Parts: sequence; C-alpha cells; structure tokens
Amino acid sequence: MSKKRIGVIGSGPVGQVLASGFVKHGFETMVGSRDAAKLKDWAAKAGALAKTGTVQETARFGDIVVLAVKGTAAEAAVRLAGAEVLAGKVVIDTTNQIADAPPSNGVLKFFTTLDESLLERLQRAVPKARFVKAFSCVGNALMVNPKLVGGPPSMFICGNDADAKKEVVEILKVFGWETEDAGTVEAARAIEPLCMLWCIPGFLKNDWVHAFKLLRA
Ligand SMILES: NC(=O)c1ccc[n+]([C@@H]2O[C@H](COP(=O)([O-])OP(=O)(O)OC[C@H]3O[C@@H](n4cnc5c(N)ncnc54)[C@H](OP(=O)(O)O)[C@@H]3O)[C@@H](O)[C@H]2O)c1
Repeated sequence: MSKKRIGVIGSGPVGQVLASGFVKHGFETMVGSRDAAKLKDWAAKAGALAKTGTVQETARFGDIVVLAVKGTAAEAAVRLAGAEVLAGKVVIDTTNQIADAPPSNGVLKFFTTLDESLLERLQRAVPKARFVKAFSCVGNALMVNPKLVGGPPSMFICGNDADAKKEVVEILKVFGWETEDAGTVEAARAIEPLCMLWCIPGFLKNDWVHAFKLLRA
C-alpha cells in the first residue's frame, strides 16, 4: 500500500520542520501558505517528495493534514482550507493559543481559558474533520527524531476519533516519540498549557533543549 500524502498548512518553523520530517521518512508532502515566496528556500532544498501550494491546494492534497499556523489564525486557517475539504481527514493540530502579548516572568499568555482549548474551537469550526492534538508541547528543533538523554520523550495527544489517533501514534513512532493518549478533545485544555511550561526554562535560562517524558513504575 502506498504511503499517505501529507499536507502541511503553515510556512513557519513548525510547518517546515515537520514537512522535512515527513519527506525524510518517505511521505509525499505539500506545504501551504498564503504567500508562496515564504516557502521558496524550503522548496529549493526539500527534495523530490516535496511540493508547495496554496492553503486550499495543500488541504486537498493531504490524506493527512497538519495545521501549523499562528494560534490566533488557526480558526481562520481551517476555514480557509475549507470545512468540506477537511471533512473526514485526520488533521494534526500543532497550534498553541499564545496571545499577542509578552510573557510574564517567562510565562506565556493565552487567549483561551482553562475551560476551553483551541483544539475544541477548531473541532467546532470543522466538525467533520478528525482533529488530533500533537507536537504542541515541544520546540520545533526536537519534533523529528529527537536525541535526548533518557530515551524517547512522550508526546501528549488527544482527539475524538480513535482511528485518527492510531494513525498519529504510528507517525509519532516513526518520528521517534512515545505517545500518551489523554482522551477526547477536552484533554487539550491540559495538553496545550504544557507549551507554557516547556518555554519557561527557555525564557528564564535560555534552555530550549528538553522534552517531557511520563515515567511509570
Ligand atoms: N515554534 C515552535 O517551536 C512551536 C512548537 C510547538 C507548537 N508551536 C505552535 O505551532 C504553530 C506554528 O508555529 P511556528 O513557530 O511555526 O510559526 P508561527 O509564526 O506561529 O506561524 C506561522 C504561520 O502562521 C500563519 N499565519 C499567521 N498569521 C495568519 C493569519 N492572520 N491568517 C492565516 N494564517 C496566518 C502563517 O501563514 P502564511 O504562511 O500564510 O503567512 C504561517 O504559516 C503555532 O500555533 C505555535 O504556537 C510552535
């Protein structure tokens, strides 16, 4: 069976790093932006399996779609991609709801509350898409096959569709992660703030090379 095609919506570091990871692992991958110029350098180096396109072309291209846009633009981006186009597809949501305000003593500000996650907003905006939160709680430099003392770190994921989560677990395995499935979309209320915790050593001590791991007896 041929590998699924990946559509990555997002031209920033996360979009480019994950797209390069998918290409490295043999997936045909398209990255989408509202501005093709932003992806020119990436496309020149990304290899034969890589393509670029508009947001809509990328959403259509992907059997699996990755959402990697600024949190404040995430709802607009899935609407731009097209609710009917995303219907039925696995959408890996990497976004965090970071507000347009500076961190306070190293603690990021969010534009949602602890009673509502960005993932829930996205799932409501496109009810037929099969959203899975993933990659939100680690910096982009460690997203693909991280090499850390202590072995593979834990990626916390959640989403309403069990089969979609199975597909994401397989991708995470290939990308060198163990997975902790925290349940349905509401669990993103707990997963998304991990990005605040992850960033604190960075802002306070310029320490950005770390990832979470859940340890058990
Ligand atoms: N940076 C990290 O290490 C990291 C780690 C974990 C999670 N995240 C999360 O991953 C997401 C992507 O982060 P990033 O650092 O790669 O880049 P970013 O600067 O947060 O986002 C860049 C992307 O956002 C899109 N965007 C910005 N404003 C927009 C608007 N008004 N309407 C539509 N799209 C808009 C841009 O689209 P165009 O290309 O069309 O301009 C671009 O693709 C964020 O939600 C971030 O919180 C980041």
